Amino acid sequence: MAATTCWRSLAYHQWLAKGAPVYPDQPIYGRGFPAPERPDELSYANGEQLYVENCAVCHSEDGSGLYQDGEYVFPAPWGDGSNNWGAGIVRTHTAAGFIKNNMPLGQPLSLSDQEAWDIAYYMTQQERPQDPRYTGSVDEVLEKFGPTFHKNSSYGQEREVDGHRLADHANWGEKGEEVKPWNVGQPRFEDLDVEK
Ligand code: HEC
Repeated sequence: MAATTCWRSLAYHQWLAKGAPVYPDQPIYGRGFPAPERPDELSYANGEQLYVENCAVCHSEDGSGLYQDGEYVFPAPWGDGSNNWGAGIVRTHTAAGFIKNNMPLGQPLSLSDQEAWDIAYYMTQQERPQDPRYTGSVDEVLEKFGPTFHKNSSYGQEREVDGHRLADHANWGEKGEEVKPWNVGQPRFEDLDVEK
């Protein structure tokens, strides 16, 4: 994982060097993976099944990844050890683009557009650490960022499968509150064609 850590750190420093705000109101447009066209219908159940078949071997069925000797061998796509609700990849089209172009590891572009979107739909409706811009109220965050950043995420929405309201918690995950500034707008997962 050393290479991954360096890559992230490098990307972060390049991003800072451009004078990008640490707390952007708008997503940052960095290196990205174009999302395939959104299919008319997305299926949570199909996404779950595809995830179990194609992804769980590395990322585990419950999304906790594989943590060994103090490091993530395979990162957690959701849950306490994952990216928080402020990261670009929580937006379904960004996740679909990333998955289509990068996953399963070593088999880029092997999933159909529908499959990539269904998996992304499933993955982005799981819980993860709170958005760094959280004020104590999901509704307040939505008021401010609902029309922009969270337009394409499931933040604050009720999950269709069980009615659970996503992100309605003060859990900051394993990385804790100190990740606040720099986990926002990580350029890695941003795509290039999202509406501003
Ligand atoms: C053979 C193991 C393997 C399989 C199978 C696999 N992944 Fe990954 N995945 C990885 C590794 C390793 C990384 C870290 C890559 C990096 O950071 O450069 C990763 C990164 C990711 C990330 C980014 C998470 C983060 O925080 O960096 C997501 C999301 C993801 N995978 C989703 C999936 C999905 C969805 C599937 C199934 C379609 C899948 N992966 C299949 C190994 C795998």
